[in-house]
Amino acid sequence: MKNLHVIEHPLIKRDISILRDKSTASEDFRIVLKRLTSLMVYEVTRDLKLHSRALETPLEKTEGFTTADEVILVPVLRAGLGMVEAYLAFIPDAKVGHIGLYRDETTLKPVDYYAKFPPNLSNSVVILVDPMLATGGSASAAIRYLKDKEAKNIRLNCVVAAPEGVALLEKEHPDVRVFAAVLDRELNDRGYIVPGLGDAGDRIFGTV
Ligand code: PRP
Ligand code: URA
Repeated sequence: MKNLHVIEHPLIKRDISILRDKSTASEDFRIVLKRLTSLMVYEVTRDLKLHSRALETPLEKTEGFTTADEVILVPVLRAGLGMVEAYLAFIPDAKVGHIGLYRDETTLKPVDYYAKFPPNLSNSVVILVDPMLATGGSASAAIRYLKDKEAKNIRLNCVVAAPEGVALLEKEHPDVRVFAAVLDRELNDRGYIVPGLGDAGDRIFGTV
């Protein structure tokens, strides 16, 4: 799985455990998803380019930096919304596009219902966020959509990845790097990731 980068950190392992725990209520789930995403931002954005700028400290002139890359975040509705605030805390000038997809419960195929993007996808670092990469159908459709809009530098940040989803993306979008907090064992016969954390959207929004 060469396009997958699992971000290993003790605090990430702790937070995934809280998200997995079925006794974690929505209010805590949202807080911990945001915190866990913050821990991943560092790694997902490690290669962002910088501009050098001259500045003066109270003591002397020195070199400082501003980020050069434009960043566009794209949450997959609904569950990706739970990861947006963490990114905006670190990259407040990022633009946010939205893509609405849900999985048909029987076919497990993604059904799209909404899309709205800022301009300049072609020159931006596009970070697709969705906590769950299961069959990979939703992420693959979202990436196809972004590529149709000329996006070239796309990466996916999820929380839990299934081997099936990683394999699909490797086949259909080998240019897209996938950052995950954990790689789980497999999908069950209903397409849920196991051990997983259940339906991320339901757990974030209390819609079980
Ligand atoms: C979940 C999740 C992903 C998708 C992953 O969304 O947030 O978008 O399933 O599954 P896949 O890899 O098999 O496509 P869901 O379809 O439940 O929609 P929701 O967030 O609106 O509940
Ligand atoms: N979507 C989820 O929210 N959870 C899964 O386990 C699979 C798809």
